[in-house]
Amino acid sequence: MQTVSTKSDLRAALDARRPSGAVALVPTMGALHDGHGRLIDQARTECATVVVTIFVNPLQFDRAADLEQYPRQLDRDLDFCADRGADLVFAPSVDEVYPRRPACTITVGALAAHLCGRHRPGHFDGVATVVLKLFQMAQPDRAYFGEKDRQQLAIIRRMVADFDVPVDVIGVPTVRAWDGLALSSRNQHLDARGRALAPRLYQALLAADRLIGAGEHDPQVVIDAARALLPPDDQLRLEYLEVVTADDLQPVARIDGPVVVAGAMWVGTTRLIDNILSAPRLAGADRTS
Ligand code: PAF
Repeated sequence: MQTVSTKSDLRAALDARRPSGAVALVPTMGALHDGHGRLIDQARTECATVVVTIFVNPLQFDRAADLEQYPRQLDRDLDFCADRGADLVFAPSVDEVYPRRPACTITVGALAAHLCGRHRPGHFDGVATVVLKLFQMAQPDRAYFGEKDRQQLAIIRRMVADFDVPVDVIGVPTVRAWDGLALSSRNQHLDARGRALAPRLYQALLAADRLIGAGEHDPQVVIDAARALLPPDDQLRLEYLEVVTADDLQPVARIDGPVVVAGAMWVGTTRLIDNILSAPRLAGADRTS
């Protein structure tokens, strides 16, 4: 596996490999876990060259403390990528990606108005901007993103369509721990008690899924029932739990078709997110993801 840190080295490495077949891009911020592993695995089966990018993007952090505390473990991540069969890792510095403060950035509209976008102002503008830059740098044929970040995935798909970027965006199912907790780089911040409480978010989403599957049409009834499953605890704070349309992630007045139930919950100082795809009479359709 080759590791590069400059755009010119990335281009040169990819120019040499492109004739062998499709190039896959797996953008990450490092602190890699099996959720990322699943992205690399799928890319590996579908493309000749797999590039993993490791870059903690300052533009997408709305809180300085969050950026500072974001786990950084490059040596471990490089071993992880090599074990998983990646061909190339691009791990640039902030100066390499942003040699100066960008004058032009992407502004995401309605797709960022709800869920995480409502609570993290500017976050998805920063994500869309860096992902477009990474697409420009690597010019991949396919790019892989986890469904745990379903709003991010929807925004990247829309950004690619709006800017005619010639890349196929592939969504990969969420990987979960034995107790249902969605794998996340942030899980490593949880202490033992927080780790025991963390799966409650997924349990609440599953309860919502069961109600929707059984024919409940009122999103507020679904939300109230799911919220009621979260135990009163000083360490837990639900940031949001919403039912939105599956395609453009807008709130629904009545559940008549596929929806996404998504939530963000603070466990102590750690913010966790999760979501589930649900539909009337299709309860459980997303349970393996
Ligand atoms: O999902 C992430 O890790 C990041 O938001 C991404 C897509 C790598 C952009 O920085």
